[in-house]
Amino acid sequence: MEKETPKISLTGIKPTGEPHLGNLIGAIRPALNLTEQYDSIYFIADYHALTSIRDPKLLRHYTRSVAATWMAAGLDPQETIIYRQSDIPEIFELHWALSCVTAKGLMNRAHAYKAARDQNAAAGRDDLDAGVNMGLYNYPVLMAVDILIMGSDVVPVGKDQLQHVEYAADIAGTFNHLYGDAYEFKIPQAVVPQEDTGRTLPGLDGRKMSKSYDNTIPLFLPEGKLKKLVRRIPTDSTSVEEPKDPDSSSVFQILEQFATPEVIADTRKRLMAGGVGWGELKNQLFEVLNEELTPMRERYNALMEPDSQLETVLSEGAEKARDRAQNLLGSVRSAIGISR
Ligand code: TRP
Repeated sequence: MEKETPKISLTGIKPTGEPHLGNLIGAIRPALNLTEQYDSIYFIADYHALTSIRDPKLLRHYTRSVAATWMAAGLDPQETIIYRQSDIPEIFELHWALSCVTAKGLMNRAHAYKAARDQNAAAGRDDLDAGVNMGLYNYPVLMAVDILIMGSDVVPVGKDQLQHVEYAADIAGTFNHLYGDAYEFKIPQAVVPQEDTGRTLPGLDGRKMSKSYDNTIPLFLPEGKLKKLVRRIPTDSTSVEEPKDPDSSSVFQILEQFATPEVIADTRKRLMAGGVGWGELKNQLFEVLNEELTPMRERYNALMEPDSQLETVLSEGAEKARDRAQNLLGSVRSAIGISR
């Protein structure tokens, strides 16, 4: 029997902040788990970050930091491809070509752009486009190109990115309608790994851990700081002796994502029986987190050294990715009439 070619899964990560526990649970681990099922491609969307980050040093730092985080968390560059978006110039050529078949009205309806306009309206500004740059406006087209240029079948994303993947499918459809006799894009599909597992992590204020709420526990804090932040996770005022409901405790919910099933079951029992204080539970959480994060932190710190293997991995990834991109762009160019 002929072996089916594995489907391609592609994930883009925007380098706009320090990686935190919520990223590991909600995005990194689920995306890394897909490598068993798919040919996986990962890239750092540094040009997407440019729509908001104006500090060159910071952009460079976040870009390396995201790559180092994913590798420290287990991404294997032998098994997968990882590259920097900006290393693939073909992306930006296809961006223009696809812009020319994309309706402006589609961009007018994009969530992020609409949110920016709503904010201006709420602030009573006359110009609803105040503060909106063309990068923000064109963002969905660039993202569609990221997806389409690698021939992606599935795109693991958070719920907030679903519209973008639909746009990619929509833009591919328009292109196929116009040029399908000569070249057809694959139509990509979003998968939301979080929905399968129901996993979101509470942050330091009990809301979902997210950079935009400023309530995160960064992944690679030194031990002492990690301990301090764990102590800051909110708890209620039940006394040590009183029985506690594990499922309404942020501390327990975080523990659940990191401890072994036996430890989780045992802790659940002890909390419900009473006699375990929040302080004790926090110490336990710190120990569990620290044990899990220490080897990762060491790998991360080594990769963040200026002469680490990080650059080699990224440039080897870029070479493989460019091969794919050049092939596909060649077909598109000849389909649309841009060729010698
Ligand atoms: N927009 C995505 C985010 O903010 C990042 C991203 C850029 C992306 N290009 C992509 C994700 C392509 C998936 C596929 O998280």
